[in-house]
Amino acid sequence: MTDKIINIGILGLGTVGTGVVKVLKKYDCLKIKKIAVRNTNKKRDVDIEGILTDNPFEITNDPDISIVVEVMGGTDPAFQLVTDAIRNGKHIVTANKELLAKRGPEIYELAREKNVAVLYEASVGGGIPIIMPMKQSLAANKITSMAGILNGTTNYILTKMEQENSEFADVLKEAQELGYAEPDPTSDVEGHDAAYKLSILASIAFGYRININDIYCEGISNITPVDIAYASELGYKIKLIAMASIKDDNKLDVRVHPALVSKTHPLASINGVTNALTVYGDAVGQVNFSGPGAGQMPTASAVVGDILAIVREMDMTVNVLPSMKCTHKLNATIVPIEDTVSKFYVRFNSLDQPGVIGHMGMSCGNHGVSLLGVIQKDMLLGGQARIILLTHEVKESALRAAIDEISLHFSTKQIANVIRVFR
Ligand code: NAP
Ligand code: HSE
Repeated sequence: MTDKIINIGILGLGTVGTGVVKVLKKYDCLKIKKIAVRNTNKKRDVDIEGILTDNPFEITNDPDISIVVEVMGGTDPAFQLVTDAIRNGKHIVTANKELLAKRGPEIYELAREKNVAVLYEASVGGGIPIIMPMKQSLAANKITSMAGILNGTTNYILTKMEQENSEFADVLKEAQELGYAEPDPTSDVEGHDAAYKLSILASIAFGYRININDIYCEGISNITPVDIAYASELGYKIKLIAMASIKDDNKLDVRVHPALVSKTHPLASINGVTNALTVYGDAVGQVNFSGPGAGQMPTASAVVGDILAIVREMDMTVNVLPSMKCTHKLNATIVPIEDTVSKFYVRFNSLDQPGVIGHMGMSCGNHGVSLLGVIQKDMLLGGQARIILLTHEVKESALRAAIDEISLHFSTKQIANVIRVFR
């Protein structure tokens, strides 16, 4: 690889940092000079004798360190540390999707000025190689759309709910007890984690900077076993889907929400903590990636892969390769969710009386919503019926107007759920 010894500094020694230390042991030429943590007295399961510090600036200011690995998470102090390290001429490898989604443009711009690499394969899809294949192997394509399951925690919860016919809250609690979900699960279950990852992927695929706040984001806490069972009867699974596409006017439709996915689509068979991404390119057609989206060793695999890529280049050239730089400058215009087009699954609780379904059909017609199917099956207490409408593709604002009109009818007792249909 290289005859020289390359000094590496690591910010963070949690799940991912520990995996990185384990994998780096294989490489004699890569020396971990220092690791920064919050608490130097905590018991660690790797040998880090004499290299632990609670002062991360000892890493970012050390002139002997060439590569800084940021695996501490969050934006503060990670942003300051990463930018200090770049100013001091260090290459960066990070797994931190939140940092890149929120502060990426500033980091990439500084890295360009300082001619250093910022690599982040582990930030999306854990151990699955996605970023470099998209930047390099698929570079000949105009990417038209992508869709993925980018969060393992929510996919684990939805899979368990389906397999065990369980409620969201029960499965979440069990997942927390088993360590599959964080004590504060908000970022995962509300879709923020998937949105961070989608913003990174979509900016590579479409060449625009994406403001994370422009991504429509809806989590899975409203999904019930009843919806999962109905979806299954209709030929679908329910998944938290992160999707992005580019329109003819170059606006981007970028969103994260639960969706019914046809059982015949590759994403429907992705279960448990596995992540997957389907990308459509004009030359290649459909490409599917899948694998371990998180975990100590899979994520460390991606981090160390990035370190090795930088080390190879350090010996070859004084200029950072274009694929290791961020090339886009324009901000994306995102299609507002009201203007997006989807098929919909809508579940109502209604009085079971003559004319109720007719009235629903009429309200849909009034707003240009065309129905693909209607199901009325289970009776609820109090003489109510569960009614499911499945629509053809329709603009979201039209669907919402139809639902508003239906909700005003005396027979409508509850709009129990509205879920978009992906494919
Ligand atoms: P983690 O287990 O919580 O570890 C965080 C580490 O950073 C800990 O060692 C902590 O020190 C240290 N740290 C935090 N704040 C610090 C500060 N202000 N100063 C010094 N050290 C600090 O996190 P993780 O799961 O390894 O995740 C790290 C990053 O990788 C995150 O950005 C995450 O999103 C990303 N990622 C994680 C996975 C995964 O499977 N876990 C997969 C892909 C990407 P102490 O040990 O002393 O508390
Ligand atoms: N919280 C993330 C997930 C971990 O559940 O997928 C890796 O990004």
